[in-house]
Amino acid sequence: MENKRKKLIAGNWKMNKTYDEAKALLTELSAVKNPPCDVAVCTPFLFIKEAAEILSGTGVLVGAQNMCDKESGAYTGEVSAAQLTSVGADCVIIGHSERRAYYGETDAGVNAKIKTALSHGLMPIVCVGESLEMRESGITGEHISIQVKLALSGISKEDITKVTIAYEPIWAIGTGKTATPEEAEEVCGLIRGVISSRYGADASERVRILYGGSMNAKNAAELLKKPDIDGGLIGGASLKSADFLKIVEAGKQ
Ligand code: PGA
Repeated sequence: MENKRKKLIAGNWKMNKTYDEAKALLTELSAVKNPPCDVAVCTPFLFIKEAAEILSGTGVLVGAQNMCDKESGAYTGEVSAAQLTSVGADCVIIGHSERRAYYGETDAGVNAKIKTALSHGLMPIVCVGESLEMRESGITGEHISIQVKLALSGISKEDITKVTIAYEPIWAIGTGKTATPEEAEEVCGLIRGVISSRYGADASERVRILYGGSMNAKNAAELLKKPDIDGGLIGGASLKSADFLKIVEAGKQ
């Protein structure tokens, strides 16, 4: 089957940049006109409105790195989907391994957040990934299948094509240790297989699956050549416009 999926290069700024630094980076990114692939920038909550304004007209999507699964109310410190869309967010990263590891996010919580995001028209970028220990024990496939199945539990066939999955091996995040294109392709293919067995081959061919974990200007092209890798979720290398824009360029098909 021919691959009709447009690549997506998404930046995950994590907890980096002050307001002035964020504005400067966004202004540099606003020079992008007609990018060769879909592009998203997931900034800290504080900068989303600014990002949507500075990047308006460029086609670059703006996103958050987390959100609350609840609609509104007494949830001190949380940010809702409606609040995100009201300042111009298009997408939201859900279930990043750092949130799972440091803030106790569970598969059930990830599932609830995906449903809330979809009901507000936010594109969820759902992260899954194995630890080094899991990989060395040979249980990567089982772990990823379970994470994907639990994340997508109760998501309809109609909604599944609005979901983006990001495969991010924990051992590759921020370590400079990238998965080889073959390792990344193997797991992205496995994820597509899980989606296919649940939603059918047709739907699975329409779901974008990204790779994340030390993707950079040097290794992006090789990774993005693989048929089941539909883009990248970029942490460190999204913090400098020159690096990020080189990766965007590598997203050209
Ligand atoms: P990294 O982060 O590119 O810095 O490894 C990726 C991510 O955590 O999304």
